[in-house]
Amino acid sequence: MAIQWFPGHMNKAKKAIAERMKNIDMVIEMLDARLPASSSNPLLAQLARGKPKLNILNKQDLADPERTALWLAHYQAQAQTRALALDASDNQAAAKISRTCRELLPQRSGLDKPLRVLICGIPNVGKSTLINGMIGKKSAKTGNEPGITKAEQRLFLADDFWLYDTPGMLWPKIIVEQGGYNLAASGAVGRNALDEEEVALVLLDYLRRHYLPLLQARYAADKDPSSHWDDVAWLEWVAQKCGALLGGGRVNYQKAAERVLVDFRGGHIGRITLETPQQWAGWLKTAQRR
Ligand code: G4P
Repeated sequence: MAIQWFPGHMNKAKKAIAERMKNIDMVIEMLDARLPASSSNPLLAQLARGKPKLNILNKQDLADPERTALWLAHYQAQAQTRALALDASDNQAAAKISRTCRELLPQRSGLDKPLRVLICGIPNVGKSTLINGMIGKKSAKTGNEPGITKAEQRLFLADDFWLYDTPGMLWPKIIVEQGGYNLAASGAVGRNALDEEEVALVLLDYLRRHYLPLLQARYAADKDPSSHWDDVAWLEWVAQKCGALLGGGRVNYQKAAERVLVDFRGGHIGRITLETPQQWAGWLKTAQRR
């Protein structure tokens, strides 16, 4: 699935981040807990040049807790890396983040130089919500369409803790096809940049394989024959259930697809994670062989 890529904006953002990186002690990458690998930007590791990193798995309230545990363990096993799962309602977020950052850079304690941390994340991952929660007030919401470059913000979380909001947006280049679909399913991709029917079918295919009981419960489908329905049969069933029909009882696939996506994004199907570390490694291998 193609996601629009803006080379000019990306280069500008890349340059600005590389420049900022010179005066940064560590990096926080905000990830979507439902799709940690798909929502991560490999370019960031390259730009950060081995600086310590904290991965925040945000929206954990929407993600499958067992899979979140797998992802946390996966990241914690990496050198100079810590991971935290959070959600917007966590009023301890600032304390947890600050504590973890200081754990990563213990040698700095006692120095009067502030800890300078850069926070990055793809649009819609919850960065503004988290920052607003941490600074305790509403800050101006900046453009979050891919490619819009915004001014850098510096936030003083404490006298000795400065948080820099990323200048510009860095979009991951889609190498793993399933990753593109997962990003689209999560709502990170603008509506006009994707085919909702295609995205909903790929999502339904994943859900029927890995979260069948949740799918059956949400759309009141009996175990049999729904256990062997394919993605199209599921979309048609959803259409019947939510009245997404055209004249003569024909299925309105677009409307049914929108319904599935809204349900997934809002957590109405249940707590779901669209990838495990093991699945991601397999998809990556396949993509690299191509
Ligand atoms: P961004 O700055 O990274 O682009 O994301 P932003 O904070 O604007 O958050 C994007 C959407 O995700 C918002 O919903 C926000 O409420 C929601 N969100 C952020 N963090 C969490 C979380 O931990 N859990 C859940 N469930 N949702 C989260 P929205 O519908 O776009 O706006 P609104 O309903 O908040 O007005």
